[in-house]
Amino acid sequence: MGKKLIVYYSYTNNTKKIAEQIQVATGADICEIETVKPYTGDYNSVVAQGKQEIERRFKTEIKPLRVNLGDYDTIIIGTPVWWYTYSPAVATFLSEYDLSGKTIIPFVTNGGWIGHTLKDIENSCKNATVANAIDIRFDIDKMIFTESNLKKWIACL
Ligand SMILES: Cc1cc2nc3c(=O)[nH]c(=O)nc-3n(C[C@H](O)[C@H](O)[C@H](O)COP(=O)(O)O)c2cc1C
Repeated sequence: MGKKLIVYYSYTNNTKKIAEQIQVATGADICEIETVKPYTGDYNSVVAQGKQEIERRFKTEIKPLRVNLGDYDTIIIGTPVWWYTYSPAVATFLSEYDLSGKTIIPFVTNGGWIGHTLKDIENSCKNATVANAIDIRFDIDKMIFTESNLKKWIACL
């Protein structure tokens, strides 16, 4: 499948932990998407800010990636679900970077309400092949998805 890159955004580190687990198991390169302006305030105020951003389809500015996407054939992309879709930082990534011709493998962490996140990723990656998506549920920071199923999925990457 060629060279693989893990790209992820994480606010409370659930997605980051999965990304790092994938990295250790696959040896793929890894790159965090970072917002220029960090989200601040308590959790509930970020949840409320996130709602407004999703409703406005706001694309928060992100720092330039430290990698050249052209070097990779497969992008394993991780995002938390924010208000039934992917996070604004990932929205910016998907609109700013050219993923055409690549294989996109999404992993999506969430609290049980994934909504239309996977459909939205497919729709935003029209010129790529989206495959093998996984939905990983957390209860706050405790993974509900079983570790063995996660390992099985990782083993297929
Ligand atoms: C702004 C915001 C909106 C969220 N919206 C949803 C949602 O629509 N559905 C859901 O299941 N979880 C939602 N969550 C919970 C996160 O998706 C979940 O905790 C995720 O694992 C967090 O990943 P992270 O630690 O990588 O940021 C939301 C969290 C935040 C901060």
